[in-house]
Amino acid sequence: MSYLNYQKKELFFDSVSISEIAKKYPTPFYLYSESALLSQYKAFQKTVNQFELGEDHLICFALKANPNPFLLESLFKLGAGADTVSGGELQRALQCGCDPQKIVFSGVGKTRQEIEFALGCHELGIYSFNVESIEELDLINTVAKEMNKMARVAIRLNPKVNAKTHKFISTGYKTHKFGILKEDILELFTKINSYDSIKLVGLSIHIGSQLTDFKATKKAVLEVCKLALHAPEPLEFIDFGGGLGVDYKGRDPEYKLNEYMHSLAEGIYEAELPYHPRVLFEPGRFLSASAGVFVTKVIRTKQSDKVFFAIVDGGMNDFVRTSLYEAYHKIIPVVESGEKKVATEIVGPICETSDSFASGRKIQKLKADELIVVCDTGAYGHSMSSTYNLRRRPIELTLTTHSDIVVHEH
Ligand code: LLP
Repeated sequence: MSYLNYQKKELFFDSVSISEIAKKYPTPFYLYSESALLSQYKAFQKTVNQFELGEDHLICFALKANPNPFLLESLFKLGAGADTVSGGELQRALQCGCDPQKIVFSGVGKTRQEIEFALGCHELGIYSFNVESIEELDLINTVAKEMNKMARVAIRLNPKVNAKTHKFISTGYKTHKFGILKEDILELFTKINSYDSIKLVGLSIHIGSQLTDFKATKKAVLEVCKLALHAPEPLEFIDFGGGLGVDYKGRDPEYKLNEYMHSLAEGIYEAELPYHPRVLFEPGRFLSASAGVFVTKVIRTKQSDKVFFAIVDGGMNDFVRTSLYEAYHKIIPVVESGEKKVATEIVGPICETSDSFASGRKIQKLKADELIVVCDTGAYGHSMSSTYNLRRRPIELTLTTHSDIVVHEH
């Protein structure tokens, strides 16, 4: 089900009129739906169960996609865990009620302070450090020893696969900075006992984001499961990372969910592990992208030779995906005016040519003060915003399941 619908030419999100909201709050703003997010989480969980990937599975939401506190609290109440990549994210997950024993910590650049914080946040520390280099493992061991703790660790495999996605967000190839190569992990297995403050509990992978072709996923899953066979002791879990893409051009919120889970299940099955480690996931985009929209207002239009511009009050500082990755996002008017569609450059006020939401986009001829919506911006939207050009970051509004609006300003 799509949460965006027109009723009598007026756009509603989660049954609330966007025009009405824009009367009360300044544009540009992000608008989220708690119900939409929770329904994505439930769909993901249901599919994990359908594919019998284990009742003890854990879905760790990747905070980098959307660390909005209200949404996080809501997900954690449903039992979600958290995939974090900085001390800040770790702190946010804890503040929003995530059980430390459901938190994994990924990333190639964990600092001593972050490691100390993660180890100290619970009697047992966090559930897992997903370790990306031997050098990092050495430091975790040293810090844990100093703190008289045992660090729970999963080794992230670099499976040397080429995920078909934008090159900036592909992370599983051998030249990428992420993970450790199989040969080095095999060697590490032979001397893991010399790390006296490390408990090896798992393996992990994450090969990229916005994946819609799962050949590389299946290959990586098979690789990591086969590697598990060589672990000195049976592993508690395997973390299959995030990456499931969304349907930015269409309207299916559960796009490719089955296909993705099928590839995972096949990979696990084909590895013929003699036991069933717990399965972890780290989805970000799939859970939150369709649960958010970015609402912006046309400041003015401008005709330059044959090119028609709509200059809006949102800019690349507010939403950068279209500028940074030339990503496609649907853009639709908040009120259908009946004007003829024309090819439009939808651009922001920032002094860069890349400050563009769409080029040559066919949309009803826009006028000053009209509102438009950039769809599917609940992931990597506000979380990537900045104050470039000394602009304020946009506010975030969340429509709750109780029909209230929760406001966050930063
Ligand atoms: N786990 C790890 C270790 C990750 O690095 C990521 C994303 C995820 C999970 C979540 O991936 P997802 O399920 O959301 O695909 N800013 C980019 C996306 C960067 C993704 C970075 N890592 C974008 O806007 O497309």
